[in-house]
Amino acid sequence: MRHLNSLLELKRSDVESIFGLARTLKDRLKKGERPQILSGFVMAQVFEKPSLRTRLSFDAAMMQLGGASIFLNAKDAGLGGREAVPDVARVIGGYSDVITLRTFSQKLIDAFIEHSGVAVINGLSDERHPCQALTDVFTMQEVIGDLRGKKCVFVGDGNNVANSLAIAASLCGMPFTVCAPENYRLDEKYLKSLTKRIPTAEVVQTDNFKSALKDAAIVYTDVWTSMGQEAEAEERKKIFGRYQVNEKLMKLAPKSCRFMHCLPAKRGQEVTDDVIDGSQSIVFEQAQNRMHLAKGLLLWVLEKKI
Ligand code: CP
Ligand code: NVA
Repeated sequence: MRHLNSLLELKRSDVESIFGLARTLKDRLKKGERPQILSGFVMAQVFEKPSLRTRLSFDAAMMQLGGASIFLNAKDAGLGGREAVPDVARVIGGYSDVITLRTFSQKLIDAFIEHSGVAVINGLSDERHPCQALTDVFTMQEVIGDLRGKKCVFVGDGNNVANSLAIAASLCGMPFTVCAPENYRLDEKYLKSLTKRIPTAEVVQTDNFKSALKDAAIVYTDVWTSMGQEAEAEERKKIFGRYQVNEKLMKLAPKSCRFMHCLPAKRGQEVTDDVIDGSQSIVFEQAQNRMHLAKGLLLWVLEKKI
């Protein structure tokens, strides 16, 4: 049984398979074709946190492939203490073929993998955002072509998005730099597991913008305060102030450098309007690709061919 939990569990060939499926389905959709490969299949989406892109892109992907999607907020599903987690997982697994989860604790997703008996997709946890990172690299490939040796620079908080992007970029041969304040970088223990799994990975953490950006192919940022960290928002605004991606910062990178953001963005905080709306920005192509990638991912976890 296949799941998408941590990208560390994927091989490069898995990533290529998912991208191949996503690309084919994206091309076919442009021609008006919506192959009903998942006719009769059911996806359950169980979320503890809000979502626009993840929820909707999986819904749309499932529907365009002929399947159905059911949404439950985690509390209504019984995950607020009404029922034991393994029991909830087993019941939902009995009604569905694939479950997408968005959680605070990574452990909840691990428990669904253990107990649901069906394919599970991590739709974001406090630790990870693998669907986003796969979409990001898929989008970079569309825009830049061969990614080997092309540098991706993540500016801001070394959060769930940065964690997963470090793996996706490394799997595709991209050097990855995190520009973040010292206490907000990727965890060293986690980095060791990343380089153990992908020995060719080149991950650097710094606060030297000049050296980080001078040869950047991609500048990427995300919110300074992730869902669940709202109590720290004011403190974080002060800490991350100098990490704002604005025109001055983008000038340190080559003109060909592209700007990316997983969205939602806090305009005026981690990114300015001129950058996110500017000619280097590909954030809406990136957001749209969530749906195409979701299709590839659904077929991959369900071991379906086109
Ligand atoms: N990028 C992303 O996951 O967006 P949502 O939180 O809206 O799903
Ligand atoms: N880091 C953000 C990503 C949202 C898609 C969060 O976890 O809130």
